[in-house]
Amino acid sequence: MIKKNLFLFILVTVLIACSQQKDPIEKKIDDLLAKMTLQEKIGQMNQLTGTGLSDDMKSQIKAGRVGSVLNEIDVKTVNELQRIAIENSRLGIPLIFGRDVIHGFKTIFPIPLGQAATWNTQIIEDCARISAIEATATGIRWNFGPMIDVSRDPRWGRIAESCGEDPYLTSVMGAAMIKGFQGEKLSDPTSMAACAKHFAGYSATEAGKDYNTTYIPELQLRDVYLPSFKAAVDAGAASFMCSFNDINGVPSSGNEYLNRQILRKEWKFDGVLVSDWGSIEQMINHGVCLDLKDAGKKAITAGVDMDMMGFAYIGHLEELVKSGAVTEKLINEAVRNVLRMKFRLDLFENPYTKVTFAMPFYTDEALQKAKQAAVESAILLKNGNSTLPLTDKIKSVAVIGPLSDAPADQLGTWSFDAEPQHSVTPLAAIRNYYGKQVKVIAEKGLAYSRDTNPLGIARAIAAARKADVILYFAGEEAILSGEAHCRADISLPGVQSELLSALKKTGKRVVLIVMAGRPLTIGKELTEADAVLYAFQGGTMAGPALADLIFGKAVPSGKLPVTFPRMVGQVPVYYAHKMTGRPAKNIVMIDDIPVGAQQTSLGNSSYHLDAGDSPLFPFGFGLSYTTFSYSDVKVSKNELSEGDSLNVECTIKNTGKFDGSEVAQLYIRDLVASLARPVRELKGFQKINLQVGETKTVTFTLKSNQLAFWNADMVKRAEPGEFQVWISTDSQSGKPVSFKYK
Ligand code: NOJ
Repeated sequence: MIKKNLFLFILVTVLIACSQQKDPIEKKIDDLLAKMTLQEKIGQMNQLTGTGLSDDMKSQIKAGRVGSVLNEIDVKTVNELQRIAIENSRLGIPLIFGRDVIHGFKTIFPIPLGQAATWNTQIIEDCARISAIEATATGIRWNFGPMIDVSRDPRWGRIAESCGEDPYLTSVMGAAMIKGFQGEKLSDPTSMAACAKHFAGYSATEAGKDYNTTYIPELQLRDVYLPSFKAAVDAGAASFMCSFNDINGVPSSGNEYLNRQILRKEWKFDGVLVSDWGSIEQMINHGVCLDLKDAGKKAITAGVDMDMMGFAYIGHLEELVKSGAVTEKLINEAVRNVLRMKFRLDLFENPYTKVTFAMPFYTDEALQKAKQAAVESAILLKNGNSTLPLTDKIKSVAVIGPLSDAPADQLGTWSFDAEPQHSVTPLAAIRNYYGKQVKVIAEKGLAYSRDTNPLGIARAIAAARKADVILYFAGEEAILSGEAHCRADISLPGVQSELLSALKKTGKRVVLIVMAGRPLTIGKELTEADAVLYAFQGGTMAGPALADLIFGKAVPSGKLPVTFPRMVGQVPVYYAHKMTGRPAKNIVMIDDIPVGAQQTSLGNSSYHLDAGDSPLFPFGFGLSYTTFSYSDVKVSKNELSEGDSLNVECTIKNTGKFDGSEVAQLYIRDLVASLARPVRELKGFQKINLQVGETKTVTFTLKSNQLAFWNADMVKRAEPGEFQVWISTDSQSGKPVSFKYK
């Protein structure tokens, strides 16, 4: 007995000792921190943009005044700067090199909004993995992506970089990107630390103008803007970036509530929080800081670990600590986060990048994935008289439009490192792969999307007259979306719409292919074109992807990740809106109001006289060359209790003439709750392949915690009552079934 007790005592003591033992990385950080001077610590918190091998950069690194360099992409320069940090700085702490690898490095994949339209997490992860392999070959081990700002305003240029309007879709897609960027383990030389950005609320910017003010009630922040960031922490994102905006008056770089309370305390994030470019300094412009010193104090107090090109930390932290305005404890915490990321990336053991003669760029696998992603990102919005795919009766096509042969523009925003000469344009692909099958008559008509040259239009019409079918590639140049590129009018730029009308007048069938960085208001064009394929900007392989879709070698399967407005005045317009007290009904359009009608509000409801209530296309929408029927939606039980789950299933049949893929979407609605809830909320999706005539049963598991929302007491909880659930082809169709939550 005594022996047994003794054994138990020893066992418990050993277990306690083990549990108290520090993670080896934390131990290494302790040792290093103990050796660092205050200046060296502050140096780790400073991020500078690359200036090659300039004397200034070299001397700053030598002096231990730089922790990270961004935008340096020449591998030899990267290695040389790293050598200076390792061999010539006092403690030899490695640098970390960062870059925006948003949707590809050399091989460019569709813009993230297009990637989200694939609703295919595997292809998203694969694209991110390839991006990491390419970027790390030049020494980039920190990627400023994914951008996971839930975006509901197509005027905002950065919607291109986002995964669209939905918190769930953005969460799932963002997590897939993080997995791909970071690989199996961060220490692998082909892994790069992901950076979830922009924390937070950046996309809620007033009037869709970049960098603008946001007012976000806490409930909306928690329900809409934060879930994708929480999902990023759960997916193991190594870093976060502050956003530029202020929320309710507080800029993110000085927001203690966001950065300390939510990110660190509630979510237990132990990675690096970096500012955005100059966002610490810009707190002076916001009018919440007196000067750079004040801004530095506010940012470190709010928990920002690294200053990207703001010079507030390197310029003022030492003085702030010495005067007692900032404690060294705060500095130590921030430096610990930075060093932890460097250790996790194994930069202390393997600081250099292997220089290889053959860089792993544009590999066959990368190009094949880029093509697959571009195929899956295109959304068929209309297909009148089954115009697409083109049959072999079509003997000639006119390839028209400013985006038909625009190698740089098809890459979209954030493709600095891409080489447009590697882009395969739609014209090149149609000529190369289908040139034997059809005669190709090419005439761009407009040199670029904003071009208004009438001579070009005349030439385009002459070319169109000679062909059986017109393929009109319209849209936006890459420069019309992305950071700081917002539009108040989101119609097709220039005279592209007029050119479409002129082409239509030739009497030929017109296929409109839109390549743009955002949803555009294409209501008029939709009525004129026989078929419309919305392709966003598909990247390096957009051409072959679109050619295969047009000629039927591939079948469209993309679904909209964002609602398309009829007109810009409808914005914000998104599927997960509230019901309101007077939901839209009895819609009377502006021209139906009798002249001299008396004023009345009785029976009137929530809509616009000139736009009605519906968007041009709802979230989740996308046609195929085939058709799918949904039937037998049922739940496995009628009641669900806390901690439990139920299955929702339905049968989907391919009822058309092509094999194809369908994205089955699971939505719920909480019918009566303590707070008004959205009319629908996405809770899951599955992309399935179905051959002609094939039937499959799709089953979703819905857990009770997926019914939870933030209530007025700021507690996330599911409330008892009746719920509706749909499995449907988009956010507006399908018949709901009900269950009760007890
Ligand atoms: C500013 C952008 O807002 C951010 O997304 C980007 O990562 C940095 N510049 C660095 O390029």
